[in-house]
Amino acid sequence: MRSLISMDDLSKDEIERIIQQALEYKRLKSRTKVLEGKFIVTAFFEPSTRTKLSFQKAAMALGAEVLDFLPSVSSLQKGETDLDTLMTIEAMDVDAIVVRTRKVGAPKLWSEVLSIPVINGGDGTNEHPTQALLDLVTMFEHFGRLDLNVAIVGDILHSRVANSLAKGLKKFGAKVRMCGPKEFLPGEHDAVDFITTDLQEALDGADVVYVLRIQRERIEQAFDGARKFFERFQVNEKVLNFAPSHAVIMHPGPFNRDVEISSGVVYSERSLILEQVRNGVYTRMAILKEVLSEVGEDSGLRPVQKVLV
Ligand code: CP
Repeated sequence: MRSLISMDDLSKDEIERIIQQALEYKRLKSRTKVLEGKFIVTAFFEPSTRTKLSFQKAAMALGAEVLDFLPSVSSLQKGETDLDTLMTIEAMDVDAIVVRTRKVGAPKLWSEVLSIPVINGGDGTNEHPTQALLDLVTMFEHFGRLDLNVAIVGDILHSRVANSLAKGLKKFGAKVRMCGPKEFLPGEHDAVDFITTDLQEALDGADVVYVLRIQRERIEQAFDGARKFFERFQVNEKVLNFAPSHAVIMHPGPFNRDVEISSGVVYSERSLILEQVRNGVYTRMAILKEVLSEVGEDSGLRPVQKVLV
């Protein structure tokens, strides 16, 4: 694996290897020097807490050095483009860049221009593959298998997490349902068994209730207007009666407390939300190891001009 842009980039074998490696790192809870001498850059053009910090911790735990690019105090403010910025960073002889952007498809373009691995930390409504991988790690750790019934509930239409997670689960024979207000549902999705506006139907037989927040930064309506759509879809103690008693609650975060998920459920015994955060570090350690272990096999410069015109 050279860059990680989409769940489509990963075979089932590669995902299994990342899951096993992540759980091994979690079991060992120790630092290694496997990336000693490497420099990893985090370049997040959109806000983040979990993804950025966990990648930074993961890189340090593997012995790498971390440089954090901060858009708000950078030469972006003087009109430099994001691509020119990344090419400038690459020229400083760094080994990999983790990016986040609101521009759908930009990480793919960047990975075709740059000669170092690019890891997609989320692009607009498109993909968030490292979130999907940490979710698969968390589900596998809890259930010991991934051929699960998973109900994804909330603002699906604007969610890059739902897209990447459904693609990842499909590779393992999981049955995925999507549920939310009809204005926030896709018409269809290749990796999904069924799409419904009926929460009871979605949660019936679900092993995992995976909740998503309203992506207020990506929707046209005022947040309070959108919030009304979700009143019927809040995952709370009462709604969880629709799901089997063994069902667990997951959420990629950040969550809007008492909007899509109730305070009583967020940190309840059935919630794996903080375990997802914990596993994010180990999963990103496994991803960095996977990505950087193959650097050198294909490190020739790309035909930059062809891509730029
Ligand atoms: N789940 C997720 O991507 O969280 P952050 O936006 O905090 O990185």
